[in-house]
Amino acid sequence: MSRPELQAPPEIYYGDIEATKYTKNTRNQQIQADMTYRALELLNIPPEEPAFLLDIGCGSGLSGEILTEEGYIWAGADIAPSMLEVALEREVEGDLFLQDIGQGFGFRPGSFDGAISISVLQWLLNAETSHPTSSPPHRLNRFFTTLHSALKNPSRAIFQFYPSSDDQIQLITSCAQKAGFGGGLVVDYPNSKKAKKVFLCLFVGGGGGQQQIPKGLEGEDTEDSKVRFERRRERERTRDRSGKRKSVKDRDWILRKKELYRKRGKDDVPNDSKYTGRRRKPNF
Ligand SMILES: C[S@@+](CC[C@H](N)C(=O)[O-])C[C@H]1O[C@@H](n2cnc3c(N)ncnc32)[C@H](O)[C@@H]1O
Repeated sequence: MSRPELQAPPEIYYGDIEATKYTKNTRNQQIQADMTYRALELLNIPPEEPAFLLDIGCGSGLSGEILTEEGYIWAGADIAPSMLEVALEREVEGDLFLQDIGQGFGFRPGSFDGAISISVLQWLLNAETSHPTSSPPHRLNRFFTTLHSALKNPSRAIFQFYPSSDDQIQLITSCAQKAGFGGGLVVDYPNSKKAKKVFLCLFVGGGGGQQQIPKGLEGEDTEDSKVRFERRRERERTRDRSGKRKSVKDRDWILRKKELYRKRGKDDVPNDSKYTGRRRKPNF
């Protein structure tokens, strides 16, 4: 895992105490987990296909842990050193980048098979300074253009976010469109004050109408909640007594990671064998 340089940029949204509190709060954990599972559903990557995902505004890695448990390899970017510090303490599997997404990404074209972002996009609507390059449209354009290039064709990027007006939605969707994305909004439980969730589903490529905007969920959140609650309990079983996650690097995980590296053109990936993923005896 790469260690981010932890020098504070001027924009810090979470102090050390807030970052730890945010991460330990079980209600936050549940809400962010639910939204991550839904984002993965909307991402619609075929099961068993190895995939490298970008978690935009990854924070302390609450979503990242689910990505790992669901078998994905991932990298996360966040502006807050304190949040990344907590992610490192929690020993998440993803590569972490200290990055203001409003400055745009510097990833190689086509690096990622998809992206998710949970509760982050609304932050790009704040002007950082009065300089024109800090204006929300400027930052959104830079962000979406560089994200579009960092994604494979075809692929998707799914953002759960909290817009506070239709104008904000309009600005975000028009900047995404300008950057080359297709797609649109999916609103789950639109008639429930409590359960309503807004997802921006962006598509790269897949022309000819192959990528359809998924339908939002209707009615009450009950059945989905039950399924997600079971998944969360399963997830909690992967923690040891101190609250640290147990390793999920089993044979399947290793095979998926090797397959992903081969797909990405890495030529020194060892062959699979019956010994792959086998535990070594400790060397005393
Ligand atoms: C509510 S937290 C969500 C964190 C994580 N996605 C989760 O679900 O737990 C919002 C995150 O967005 C990050 N953030 C806000 N503005 C950002 C920016 N311009 N660039 C990168 N990250 C940003 C914050 O540092 C914070 O970690």
